[in-house]
Amino acid sequence: MKKSLLIAEDDEHILELLLSVFSRPDLHIHAARSGTEAIGLIDQHDIDVVLTDLVMPGGDGLAVLSHAKKTLGNCEVILMTGYGTVENAVQAMKLGAFHYITKPFKVVEVVHLVDRALEMTEMKKENIHLKQQAIGRYRFENIIGISEPIRQVLSLVAKVAGSDSTILILGESGTGKELIARAIHYNSNRADRMLVPVNCSAIPAELLESELFGHVRGAFTGAHIARTGRFETAHRGTIFLDEIGEMSPPLQAKILRVLQKQSFTPVGGTKAVDVDVRVIAATNKDLEKEITAGRFRQDLYFRLNVIPIHLPPLRERTDDIPVLAGHFLGKYAPESGQGVQGFRPDAMEAMKRYAWPGNVRELENLVERLVVLSRGGGWVEKNDLPPAMLRGGDRPGREAAEKLRNGGLDFRKAREDFENHLIRQALALSGGNRNKAAALLGLKRTTLLEMLKRKRLHGP
Ligand SMILES: Nc1ncnc2c1ncn2[C@@H]1O[C@H](COP(=O)(O)OP(=O)(O)OP(=O)(O)O)[C@@H](O)[C@H]1O
Ligand SMILES: [Mg+2]
Repeated sequence: MKKSLLIAEDDEHILELLLSVFSRPDLHIHAARSGTEAIGLIDQHDIDVVLTDLVMPGGDGLAVLSHAKKTLGNCEVILMTGYGTVENAVQAMKLGAFHYITKPFKVVEVVHLVDRALEMTEMKKENIHLKQQAIGRYRFENIIGISEPIRQVLSLVAKVAGSDSTILILGESGTGKELIARAIHYNSNRADRMLVPVNCSAIPAELLESELFGHVRGAFTGAHIARTGRFETAHRGTIFLDEIGEMSPPLQAKILRVLQKQSFTPVGGTKAVDVDVRVIAATNKDLEKEITAGRFRQDLYFRLNVIPIHLPPLRERTDDIPVLAGHFLGKYAPESGQGVQGFRPDAMEAMKRYAWPGNVRELENLVERLVVLSRGGGWVEKNDLPPAMLRGGDRPGREAAEKLRNGGLDFRKAREDFENHLIRQALALSGGNRNKAAALLGLKRTTLLEMLKRKRLHGP
């Protein structure tokens, strides 16, 4: 693959000379005659090495250097300085220059330096790749993450997977609860048996009991044949009770009995069926609050909460954002064509600042959308991200507090920002579903719709 070299030099003769020296098949060359021009080119292209004069009109070489370092992750910069500017050279090295060369220079010297800088960028890119591979080896199944919180979760998962103990996975929507449940099952002694998932909120309450425990023939109208429940299917394996916070209290009592006795009675039946099932449960609800509200049985909570695994929200493990984004880029990269190469540093910064109410799922959806919409072979720019992510209103409370400290704020505007923030979060959490968002906000649907119209807000 061609490397790209940016040459910034205001002296037309030297520029001509350098352009001819570096016109090689392995190089793609950009030329700039001023600092501003160089900075513009850095913004538009993925440049590997910059060779820049120190003294130029419109932004000197140091400005070009710091802009390149800020904008391009792996770029190396070589400065060309006149005699008597050693101080500048020292400062350049401090700012992260690869090297400097004093004028007049020999052509072979420049070529040598540029080639070494190109090698360095290549190595850096490879290093990132190697690092990602290493991460790949330490990850659990396909759970990506390098942050301290996720490492702690994974080490806990590794410790408890082998036991038969009941596990309760807690975390906001989209944090990877199901992924963790699968990792536990497939790393347990039960891995060669079934993992039977049951989404307690997706099955109507009146059907859930027979779904879980089965029923005998004639148990209720329409029960023409007997049916095996999911607990029986999961015999010797694992049952994953997803969204257990949504289960009705009478059913909760039955689950508690299975956990205590390892047996249950099918709907309409008289004989208990013994089972050997490991239970993993998950919820995004705060079960202690549910208990206080009388919606969740405390005894079941104690029984489930033997080993709780808390999955932190993505905004509390921002170190994982780049690796996850990279992982999803690979996952959604089109078979043919170039797809998206990566994220510009400022785009990644914006992603790290964003609050991610939908957590990893939201990030995955975003990357998928960016890949589909990409014009091919490009880098994701900050402006390619959804406007809601760039509004900086992610943390309006914190922002307002800062403004208060720094001289004061506009109260109405701060309140407005906060409202908008909550509405956007609710919409993102509900996948754009306005009914659900209204419910999350404790508002009437019509009230929310009116607010959306008045505030000119749209879904995610
Ligand atoms: N650490 C991770 N590495 C790779 N992919 C992840 C990770 N965490 C989550 N995902 C992916 O994000 C998506 C959401 O994860 P999952 O369904 O496990 O979340 P959840 O907590 O069960 O969400 P919900 O509460 O909405 O059911 C899935 O596609 C999953 O593969
Ligand atoms: Mg889930």
